[in-house]
Formats: sequence, structure tokens, C-alpha cells
Amino acid sequence: RRAMAARWLWPLLLGIAGLGGVLQVHGQVDNLGFINLDCGLPESAAGYVDSVTKLRFTSDAGFIDAGTNYNMSSEYITPTMGRSWHNVRSFGGGAGTRSCYTLRSLVAGLKYLIRAKFWYGNYDGLDRAPVFDLHIGVNYWTTVNISNANTPVIYEVIAVVPGESVQVCLVNTGSGTPFISALDLRPLKNGLYPMANATQGLVLHTRANFGRDDGVILRYPDDPHDRFWIPQSKRAEWLEVSTAKKVQNIDDDSFDAPSAVMQTAITPVNSSSPVVFSWDAEPSASNPDPGYVCILHFSELQPLPVSAVRQFYVTLNGQLWLGKGFTPQYLYTNAVFNSIPNHGYHQYNVSLNATGNSTLPPILNALEIFSVLPTTGITTATQDVSAIAAIRGKYQVKKNWMGDPCVPKNFAWKGLGCSYAVSSPPTVTGLNLSSSGLSGNLSSSFAGLKGLQYLDLSRNNLTGSIPDTLSQLSSLTLLSDRQSTQWINSSWPCEKNSRWLPNTQIW
Ligand SMILES: *[C@@H]1O[C@H](CO)[C@@H](O)[C@H](O)[C@H]1NC(C)=O
Ligand SMILES: *[C@@H]1O[C@H](CO)[C@@H](O)[C@H](O)[C@H]1NC(C)=O
Ligand SMILES: *[C@@H]1O[C@H](CO)[C@@H](O)[C@H](O)[C@H]1NC(C)=O
Ligand SMILES: *[C@@H]1O[C@H](CO)[C@@H](O)[C@H](O)[C@H]1NC(C)=O
Ligand SMILES: *[C@@H]1O[C@H](CO)[C@@H](O)[C@H](O)[C@H]1NC(C)=O
Ligand SMILES: *[C@@H]1O[C@H](CO)[C@@H](O)[C@H](O)[C@H]1NC(C)=O
Ligand SMILES: *[C@@H]1O[C@H](CO)[C@@H](O)[C@H](O)[C@H]1NC(C)=O
Ligand SMILES: *[C@@H]1O[C@H](CO)[C@@H](O)[C@H](O)[C@H]1NC(C)=O
Ligand SMILES: *[C@@H]1O[C@H](CO)[C@@H](O)[C@H](O)[C@H]1NC(C)=O
Ligand SMILES: *[C@@H]1O[C@H](CO)[C@@H](O)[C@H](O)[C@H]1NC(C)=O
Ligand SMILES: *[C@@H]1O[C@H](CO)[C@@H](O)[C@H](O)[C@H]1NC(C)=O
Repeated sequence: RRAMAARWLWPLLLGIAGLGGVLQVHGQVDNLGFINLDCGLPESAAGYVDSVTKLRFTSDAGFIDAGTNYNMSSEYITPTMGRSWHNVRSFGGGAGTRSCYTLRSLVAGLKYLIRAKFWYGNYDGLDRAPVFDLHIGVNYWTTVNISNANTPVIYEVIAVVPGESVQVCLVNTGSGTPFISALDLRPLKNGLYPMANATQGLVLHTRANFGRDDGVILRYPDDPHDRFWIPQSKRAEWLEVSTAKKVQNIDDDSFDAPSAVMQTAITPVNSSSPVVFSWDAEPSASNPDPGYVCILHFSELQPLPVSAVRQFYVTLNGQLWLGKGFTPQYLYTNAVFNSIPNHGYHQYNVSLNATGNSTLPPILNALEIFSVLPTTGITTATQDVSAIAAIRGKYQVKKNWMGDPCVPKNFAWKGLGCSYAVSSPPTVTGLNLSSSGLSGNLSSSFAGLKGLQYLDLSRNNLTGSIPDTLSQLSSLTLLSDRQSTQWINSSWPCEKNSRWLPNTQIW
């Protein structure tokens, strides 16, 4: 996928290659509000501090109930590679399986950057890199397509998180076993990236830093939000310009481009040439006409004499973006961007052309390109999510119960019946926990499933009486007991309710 990125922009994954040593992550929210998970690091292993970023990484064990740890194949491990790449968590088990991380302690309604990292490194000895999907909550995020065992691939999304936790799910689509190397979460101030809102997220396509030729990816602590700014190697038609002076952000800056990134830029060698770049649309089955947002970061780096003017037009596919010419401010960041995503093209060409009044060519310090991700998927009713989570927790249910219980429909939890009304969130109407090794008393949380119509608890080892609250579920007409080998169906001739009168010792 990345390889289809703009012709002269380094695709993100290529930019990362060979720089493994710079990349690392860390645990449950730290003092910066960051989460850095080293996926596949054994639960027993102590966390560690990354030598480059000083960020603390922890095992992912407390964040997911599934998967097996593997080490990357030794021939792929190099001394400069960051430690978090050494091991992966892998999710065998076949097509249609969804495995989810739950990132907790978040603030509902706030904006977060989430980054998932993959380096196959032939960890499974099959020498066959997989293709699988990533979901964020109930929404499709992207397709992970790893074409090379020796190349790290990184996907990033910026999204408003609706609850106090968010789930990142790996979905087996029948083209290999999903795995993951590392997972990052970074909180963002809500004013940042105003195009990311409750109904749309931003999926990173490219984040490029211009005028820096040393191959260094700038991130935390240069960028307090720990975005990865990928250096673009010099081209013959570019002149690199830079300053040692700090480049300031304006008040309430919408993007907070860091000074270290803004301190370098390119201008055309031929001062009458435009700066041009382009990228191709990447439609997918889940997002056939993706919209794109492009953010251009500018700052003047040279003190200009009064007679000099640097002013240019920004055009997208031949259309003027700004009605007038744009002049970057000396040592202040400014961004030119589209707040409404662009749709409907196979290719996007951006051009920076000097205006007739300009005495200097255009300049470009940094840019970001995102595709827009609809986050309008409706989740299961909150009360049912809480109730079923409590049930799963109490009985330590060992099923592949991950992600949203009922959504997407084809990933509804095994043993769950769901009702999908048009006008209201899906609810749990059936629960089959037959032969699930349950023991202890009957959880009052079953009563939290207000729409429950059938409940099969046969072939378990439950004790105690039936809580009053359960008998108050007016629509619950079925319940099986420990001895029953068959489901007692309401359509069958049986004494309705007789087996679950309150305070009756039935187990
Ligand atoms: C991975 O490598 C580490 C250190 O080399 C070793 O201690 C561990 O047992 C290995 N784990 C697996 C699952 O092979
Ligand atoms: C994955 O990438 C390869 C090579 O870039 C491409 O040929 C293949 O069609 C891609 N697969 C999917 C499912 O996108
Ligand atoms: C999010 O932004 C899009 C595009 O500007 C807009 O259409 C949508 O209404 C916004 N959603 C919310 C909840 O503000
Ligand atoms: C500079 O660019 C202009 C316009 O693109 C072109 O006409 C001119 O020949 C170029 N000059 C050189 C020296 O390449
Ligand atoms: C973008 O530019 C290329 C050549 O540079 C051209 O072939 C293509 O038609 C342009 N695309 C659009 C959508 O303008
Ligand atoms: C900007 O430059 C491009 C490429 O040379 C050209 O196609 C376009 O017409 C120019 N636009 C303006 C407004 O000058
Ligand atoms: C160029 O300068 C003239 C004279 O100062 C002014 O009228 C015109 O609006 C300027 N053009 C642009 C694009 O700023
Ligand atoms: C519950 O699942 C068991 C097998 O796990 C099956 O035998 C039983 O019929 C199911 N009950 C219902 C009501 O579908
Ligand atoms: C059920 O629980 C009883 C008492 O704790 C225990 O003796 C028995 O082995 C359990 N049976 C199963 C199948 O777990
Ligand atoms: C089940 O047992 C727990 C403690 O083991 C107790 O706190 C709870 O009240 C009991 N629930 C019911 C419905 O009896
Ligand atoms: C229970 O009854 C419904 C119809 O009321 C039927 O569709 C379903 O197959 C029955 N379940 C079992 C396990 O017989």
C-alpha cells in the first residue's frame, strides 16, 4: 500500500526501514498519557526504557486475552534494531477471527493518535508475510499488507475516542495469520487536527519532513505528540534551506508542527519552477472513495529584505486552494490545508507556484496527507456491553470474546444472540454459555442484559439460587439447568418459568 504513495515522497514504511534503532514504544498510560506496548514481550519480562526516546515499554499481556508470543527469526535481528521489534504476538486460528487490544484509562471524547507497528521477520518460519485487516472499535481502519519480511510497516490513525477505552482489533481475512510488533497511543489536545471529529478519523498516508538529509526520523521528544516525521531525501531540483533559530507555533495552532521539523525546508533550485508533488488514491473494499486531507506546513526561514517577497499559490489538481497568494511568516509556523476532504480523483497533484509579485520561489517545510476514516459504526448498547463484560470477567470465559459483542455482525461473539434494530443500538437477546466451565453462583450481571430472551447455562458447575433481579427480566422466557442436556425452548411444551422462580435452589 505505502508503495503507492506520492511519487517522490518516501512511502512511510520505506522511510522507517533501516532506522529500526530509532523506533520504540511503552505501558498502561504513563505520566505523559502515552501507552507503549511491546507486543509479544512475555508478561513476566520487566518493562524497559528505550535508550533513544526514554519512553518506557511494557508487555502487552494485560491488554489482550489472545495470541501467542514469538521471536523474530534471528537472521532478521540486527544490533541497531529497537528492542520492541524483536518479538511479536501472533493470532493463529483461521479466517474470520478477530483479536482485540483494549487500551484503557482514556478520556471519553478526547482525540488520540494510535499507531500499530508490524515487522514480520519470518517469526513463524513460514516465510510468507500475511495480509489482514485492522479495526478501530467497530470501524474498519486499514488493511495491513506486509510484502517484505525485512521491512517494518507502521499504520497510524487520529481519532476521537467515544468511551474510556478503545479497542484495536486484528482481523484474519484468510490471507495469513495476523500478528503485531508494537502498539502506541498518544493523547492529542482536542484543538489539534480539527478535521478529526466524532464521526471521522484521519488515517496517515504520509508525514514528510523536508530539507533534512541525515535520515533521522524526528519524533518524541522533538515532537511532544510523538508523531514520526520522515525525512525526504534530497532531490536535484531542490535547494535545502535551514535555520538554527527556533520556529514558534502560533497560539492555538491546529497542528503544532515541531520546531525541529520546521527549521528545515526546500525551495526549487530553478527559482521560476513550482514545487509539485502528488499521491494516488488508495480505494479499498471498505472505503471505495476515500477522501483526503492534505496539510502543508510553512515557515519563512530567512530574514528577507523589505524589497523581497515570497508569495505563492497552492493548487490542487489545477484548482486554486487559497483565493490569494500565501506568504509564510518568518520563524512562525503556518499551515495550509483543506478542512473538507477531497474525493473523487485517482490522483492528487499539488503545486506551489510563485505569484507574479513574488521575488522568491515557494518553500515547503513539511506536509501531512491523511485519508478520512468514517467512524460512524454503531456499537452494542452500553449497558449490555458492561453486563457481558462483567459476566465474562466473573466466569473467566475462555472464548474468543473480543471487541464489540454484536458489531460488526459477522464478528458477533460466539454464543451470543443479537438484535439489530434500525433505530437503536444492537442489544444482546441470547446467551449460550453451555459447557463453558462456569462455576460459582449465578451472576446478577445477567440481569443487566435487559433484552435477554434466552439463556443457556447447561453443563456447567453453577451453584446457589437465582437472583431476584433475573426473574424481573420480563422477556426472559428460557433458562436451562445444569442437568439438562438440551436447550429448553419456549416453543417446546414445557412449563414456562418453572425452572427459575426466585430463590429456588435449582442447581
Ligand atoms: C525469545 O528470545 C528470548 C531472548 O533471546 C528468549 O529468552 C525467549 O525464550 C525467546 N522466546 C520464544 C517464545 O522463543
Ligand atoms: C498486497 O501488496 C501486494 C504487493 O504490493 C499486492 O500485489 C497485493 O495485491 C496486496 N494485497 C492486498 C490484499 O491488498
Ligand atoms: C466531522 O467533519 C465532517 C467534515 O467536515 C463533517 O461533515 C461532520 O459533520 C463532522 N462531524 C461532527 C460530529 O462534527
Ligand atoms: C526554470 O524554469 C522555467 C519555467 O519552468 C524554465 O522556462 C527555465 O528554462 C528553467 N531554467 C533553467 C535554468 O532550467
Ligand atoms: C497529475 O499530474 C500528472 C503529470 O504530472 C498528470 O499526468 C495527471 O493527469 C495529473 N492528474 C490530475 C488529476 O490532474
Ligand atoms: C502552477 O504550476 C503548475 C505546474 O507547472 C501548472 O500546471 C499550473 O497551471 C500553475 N498554476 C498557477 C495558478 O500558476
Ligand atoms: C501584486 O501587487 C499589486 C501591487 O502592489 C497588487 O495590486 C496585487 O494585488 C498583488 N497581487 C497579489 C497576488 O498579491
Ligand atoms: C448452546 O451451545 C451448545 C453447544 O455449545 C449447543 O449444543 C446448544 O444447542 C446451544 N443452545 C442453544 C439454545 O442454541
Ligand atoms: C464442580 O464443583 C464441585 C465442587 O466444587 C467439584 O467437586 C467438581 O469437580 C466440579 N465439577 C466440574 C466438572 O468442574
Ligand atoms: C455470588 O457470590 C459472591 C461472592 O462469592 C457474592 O458477593 C454475591 O453476592 C453472590 N451473588 C449472588 C447472586 O448470590
Ligand atoms: C427454538 O425455537 C425457535 C422458534 O421459536 C426455533 O427457531 C429454534 O430453532 C429453536 N431452538 C432449538 C435449539 O430447538
